[in-house]
Amino acid sequence: RKDVLQLEDLSGEEIELILHTAKPMKEILFRPIKKLPTFRGKSVINLFYENSTRTKTSFETAAKVLGADTSSLAVAQSSVNKGESLYDTARTLQAMQPDIVVIRHASSGAAQFLSKILKAGVINAGDGQHEHPSQALLDLFTMKEHMESLEGKKILIVGDVLHSRVARSNVWSLTKLGAEVVLIGPPTLLPPEMKTLGVKMNYNLDEELPGADVVMALRLQLERQQAGLFPSLREYSQVYGINLERLEKTGKNTLILHPGPMNRGVEISSEAANSPNAVIEEQVTNGVAIRMALMYLLMGGNANVVA
Ligand code: CP
Repeated sequence: RKDVLQLEDLSGEEIELILHTAKPMKEILFRPIKKLPTFRGKSVINLFYENSTRTKTSFETAAKVLGADTSSLAVAQSSVNKGESLYDTARTLQAMQPDIVVIRHASSGAAQFLSKILKAGVINAGDGQHEHPSQALLDLFTMKEHMESLEGKKILIVGDVLHSRVARSNVWSLTKLGAEVVLIGPPTLLPPEMKTLGVKMNYNLDEELPGADVVMALRLQLERQQAGLFPSLREYSQVYGINLERLEKTGKNTLILHPGPMNRGVEISSEAANSPNAVIEEQVTNGVAIRMALMYLLMGGNANVVA
C-alpha cells in the first residue's frame, strides 16, 4: 500500500500485521535512547488543517523516533490563509519530495484527494466525519493488550456517533476482528445508516451496560453541533455520561477508553476518567507505537525485522 486512508479498506490480516508491528515499536519508546536509524534521510510532513494535540504530536514523535526529518505546516500561518487550495498546497508539498504526508482536514475525503496528487505516502489523521484510522488502531491495540482476543467481546461506543470519525473507524476495525459493537447515544446523534455495518444500536445506555467488556466514551463535539441535537449538557450527561455508578452495572472489570480530548463532567466523569480501569493515557502512548508501525510498514518495513 502507498497510503493509509480508511480502515474500511484494510483486511483483518492487515490490521493484525499493524498491531503486531506496533508491539516492538512500543518497547523502543521505553528505551533510554529512543532513536532508530531506520528512516535516516526520509522526510515526513504534518499537514493539519484542524486542531490536534495527541495525533499531531504523536505522528511527529513517531517519525522522529524512527529517525526521519519532520516538518509541520502551521496551516493558520500558511498560504492557505491567502486562499491557496488543497490541490495547490499538495502540489507544492510534493515538489519538496517528502516520503510521507500526514493530513487532518475538516472535509471527508480530503486524505483520498491528497493521495491521488502526491507520490508520497498519505496517512489520514482524521477527515471530517469520515475516518480516523490511526486512532481506531491504537484503540484496538490498547484493548488487545488487556484482553488478547476481541472475538465476541461486547464493546459499547457511547455518545456523539454522528460527528465521530473515531466511531466510524472503530466500527470497521472492531467488526473485522469479531467484536460485538453496540453504538449508543440520543437518536439525534446516532446515524441509522450505520446499522448496515453489522453493529447494534440502542438509545438506552443502561440497558446495554450488563456484560460490557469495554466502554468507549466519545467526545461530544460541541464545535460541530447544530441546535437541538441534544437537550442540554446537564441532561446529556445524566443520560449518557459514563460514571462509576453506571460502570458497576457491567458486572465486569470493564475497560474505559476515550480518544480525547475529554469534556470531563459531560461524556465522562472525572472519577471514571481517573479510575484504575481507564486506559486513556495508555491509548496516547500506544498512539505513538501504532503511528511508528504505520509509517514503518508504508516505507516497506518488514514486521519481523524491527530495530
Ligand atoms: N484523539 C484525537 O484525535 O485527539 P487530537 O484531536 O488531540 O489529535
